[in-house]
Amino acid sequence: MRSLLLLLGAALLIAAGADGAAASSPEYVPGYPLYCQGPLTPGAPSGRETTTPFHWASTGAGAASPEPRQCSWADRTGEGPERLSWGGNAICDFSGAMKSVPAGAYIEVGVARDPLAGNCMHLVRYIGAASPPFSAVPALAPFVRQSIAVLTSSQIASLRHGIQVMMGRPNFDVTSYSFQANIHATYDSPFWSNQKESWNQCQHGSYYFFSWHRMYLYFFDRILRAAAGDPKLVLPYWNWTDPAQRTLPVAFRIPANVGNPLYIAPPGRPALLDAGMQLGSSAVEYKTEFANVAFDSPAGTVDSFGGQIASPTQFNSPHGAYESQPHDIVHTALGGLMADPGTAAQDPVFWLHHANVDRMWNTWLAQGGGRHNPTDAAWLNTQFTFYDEAGHAVYLTGAEIVDTVGQLNYKYDDHPDILQVLYPPPNITRFLPEARQFAMSGKQAMPGNEIAAPQRAREELATSGSAPRVALQRIELGGTGARLAVPLTDAAAGRMRVLVANAPHQVYLRFDDIRVDQSSGVYYEVYVNPPAGAKLDMHTPGYVGNLSLFGLKPHAMAGRPAPVRNVYAEYDISRLVGEAVARDPKGLTVVLVPRGLFDLRGEPLPVSTKVQGTLGTVRIIGG
Ligand code: C2O
Repeated sequence: MRSLLLLLGAALLIAAGADGAAASSPEYVPGYPLYCQGPLTPGAPSGRETTTPFHWASTGAGAASPEPRQCSWADRTGEGPERLSWGGNAICDFSGAMKSVPAGAYIEVGVARDPLAGNCMHLVRYIGAASPPFSAVPALAPFVRQSIAVLTSSQIASLRHGIQVMMGRPNFDVTSYSFQANIHATYDSPFWSNQKESWNQCQHGSYYFFSWHRMYLYFFDRILRAAAGDPKLVLPYWNWTDPAQRTLPVAFRIPANVGNPLYIAPPGRPALLDAGMQLGSSAVEYKTEFANVAFDSPAGTVDSFGGQIASPTQFNSPHGAYESQPHDIVHTALGGLMADPGTAAQDPVFWLHHANVDRMWNTWLAQGGGRHNPTDAAWLNTQFTFYDEAGHAVYLTGAEIVDTVGQLNYKYDDHPDILQVLYPPPNITRFLPEARQFAMSGKQAMPGNEIAAPQRAREELATSGSAPRVALQRIELGGTGARLAVPLTDAAAGRMRVLVANAPHQVYLRFDDIRVDQSSGVYYEVYVNPPAGAKLDMHTPGYVGNLSLFGLKPHAMAGRPAPVRNVYAEYDISRLVGEAVARDPKGLTVVLVPRGLFDLRGEPLPVSTKVQGTLGTVRIIGG
């Protein structure tokens, strides 16, 4: 790869005085456009970068001509050495940088991508004079995220090597495995300023859930590739939606020894999981969640695919539909490190789990029917900060990550590129001063994040009783589950019938004041008035959904005030409440059945008897 750089025309090697600034300055630089972070590096011996004093012009279909010292993509593929290295052609206005180029004249250059060095473009060839129009679509082959199930043994070896190299780095190195895992969440105390600034950033319980985790994986993928020294290494995904892939991928459990950096011994992972036991079928279910057409919903509501509209906060509640199910449930069912956001990313399977979640975001969009990503300024412009493989602090916004091929240069092996045509990125607005705000402030819940009243007025129809504050009166979530009586008055039952018959009104089952004690790999299948004596699974009448406590514990992290808000989970039971009441007109019996892993015949295995947490009240809400 580096030898290509010798092809550089000497005329293009323009030494700049500003080299090294990105590495030493604490300032965050934009993470997009992504094909060259920071300076273009003509790749003189490592450590002595020669920089060219220009940057990429903003991209977007029909890009404007580049400004002085900027480059745009040329609308043709590379022909020379750049083509061999996944490069392409760029058109640059070098008038501010080269005496020989008059203002307003453009030159075309061949560029080669170096996926191991900032994914940066190196100039490899002077092509000649060029003139508009310019295209902004890179002529680069995207990295393809493959299913772990189809990886070859040499790909697995490369993945292991990259993880191993990252794990060998000290935790003040921003490209180390532990630093990266701690960016998600951690119980470690940050010491260095980069740790204080960057740890504990994950976004749960809001419409930033999908976008933040996409950005996080994007940079992890690049760091991993560079660490492995393998330009072809791409983070795979674990498709647990495939019934044949509900066991932990083999490469993560065999060989079961310390030489395999993907393996984690108990208690970091349950022995049953390492032994090849599987996820239950309700844990990976997502049909109901995919049926949501809206990506987001007003604060305090969960009837959307991607979650409530709220300011960035690490642990908000309630969780959006897909985040709750299957995302949270899979975390919980996997147990060990994965069951707690504060430790989850320490298990290397975290990245494959989230790659699958990220893949399914695109799959959800591809269903069409009006599905689209958020278009509000906050979602599009809020900046989140990460690090690239060179250790540079970088930031991205929602607007910069909606098109995984055009913007982030990766795709999934089962997705056509056409997705990107159907869902082009919105116009990109960046460098908005108010959007900059969040870049450094991810650690505090921002004001205005309280649960706001939902759009439709809500009414309580029935309750298990007033929220008890005394621990003994709380509803315990243990290893035997719970049966909770919610008496119904005739008036409440009647009102319920009216609501469900008058869309868009709905009836919800709601668990209020959830407190989390620990994460022991137990989630709960929730039923309302299941038929007496029935075998309980997701096909039983009255099955509502699952309850997981993943991410519902607002961690008492450094610098974070104790949570004051009500942590709750809510389920739309409009479709099944009529039948449930018919089975028992006097009231609703809410049954919580503890679940963990399942054997290979699909039978539930015994779960931990420890208390996972408690509930304050069970309520039936109309809205
Ligand atoms: Cu931020 Cu799957 O967790």
